[in-house]
This record gives sequence, structure tokens and C-alpha cells, in this order.
Amino acid sequence: MAEPTTQRLFFALWPDESVRAQLRAAQEAMPRRGGRPVHVEDIHVTLAFLGQVEAERRACMEEAAGGVRGAPFELLIDRQGYWPRPRVAWCAPAEIPEPLRDLVQRLGRALRPCGFEPERRRYSPHVTLFRDSRAVPEGPLARPVRWPCRDFVLVATSPVPGGPRYRVLARWPLADSCNEPPACHNGEHKENERSP
Ligand code: 2AM
Repeated sequence: MAEPTTQRLFFALWPDESVRAQLRAAQEAMPRRGGRPVHVEDIHVTLAFLGQVEAERRACMEEAAGGVRGAPFELLIDRQGYWPRPRVAWCAPAEIPEPLRDLVQRLGRALRPCGFEPERRRYSPHVTLFRDSRAVPEGPLARPVRWPCRDFVLVATSPVPGGPRYRVLARWPLADSCNEPPACHNGEHKENERSP
């Protein structure tokens, strides 16, 4: 039987072990309102959700991601709350760092030629902690999490019952300088060289 020809993909910020442990602690400290906790190995912040992607488009998207420049930044996750429609309990930054906004915009623009449609709704970075949950009171996190973001990743969703559902496929550094000259000479180049 052939390999599946499409994969469900998304770009994300992926925590290191220390940040993961802190986000896990935030999950454990959250008042339980039923629902399913997100597996600790799956905790992340989505940058761009791609949906089902065939191999050719994945290659296009990986190449596009390699040309995206961005500055490293710190994400201060300091709030928790709940969205009733997807029924998710989350933690999130009260303030979105400018380099994160830039990264999401640049990634979206770079992916367009590969058939990506950026979301129309405002970008709300968040870490989903529980799915199918009942309401959790919104408010400050007792222990805010400082997350140094130095790279971003491409992730595939694997339908594995019980275990971690996500798999990191590729990673790109957030570097101020251009260290891949050919990739830096696309339309993104000038804006990406802006000083922080
Ligand atoms: P969530 O954490 O808020 O549920 C993989 O499924 C990731 O992509 C999850 O982080 C999920 O966000 C996000 N995601 C899933 N479906 C999506 C959609 N239709 N639009 C935007 N993001 C989506």
C-alpha cells in the first residue's frame, strides 16, 4: 500500500522541555471542567494552520518557510481563559509581541503562492490546554510562563490513539541576519532586514 499522499499540517511555536514543563504546570493548575487535557508532548502555539496538504504543496511550503526571516522574541504567557464555540480552555499572552505578529504575517504571505489562504479572523496566539471543556474563568495565570522563541516548526497530525498526536517535521531558526543568501532574496528580504 502506498504512503498517504496528504498530511494534515500546521506551522507552530514548539516549546523546549523547560517551557513544556511550565505549560504542563499551568494545565495542572487549571480548574478542571471536564474535557480532555492536551497531551503534554502536543502543547504548542499554532502560527498557521494548513489543513490537508499533498506532498508537492508541502515541498513548496517548506521552501517558502525557509525564506521567512524573523527576530527571536519572548512570549509571556500570562492569562488563561475559555472559548465556548470550540470549547477549549487555553492560556495565552495578554500582549502579542510585535515579532510574533510579523512572523505570522510573513509566513502567511510566503505561503500564499503554495495555495495557503491566511485566516480572515484576527490572530490570537494561544496554547490549548483542554478540549471539550466547560467554561474556565478568564484571568491571570498564577505562574506566568516566559517562553523564549528562537525557531518555528512544521508539524504533522498523526491519528495515533492515546499517544502524542503531533510530529515535528522541520524547524527553522528565527535569525535577524540572513544566513541563507538565496532564500533571503525573495520579496520578504527588505522588510525582514528591519532592525528590531
Ligand atoms: P487549537 O489548538 O486552538 O485547537 C492542530 O490541529 C492545530 O491547528 C491546533 O493548534 C488547532 O488549534 C489548530 N487548528 C485546527 N483546526 C484549525 C482550523 N480550522 N483553523 C485554524 N486552526 C486550526
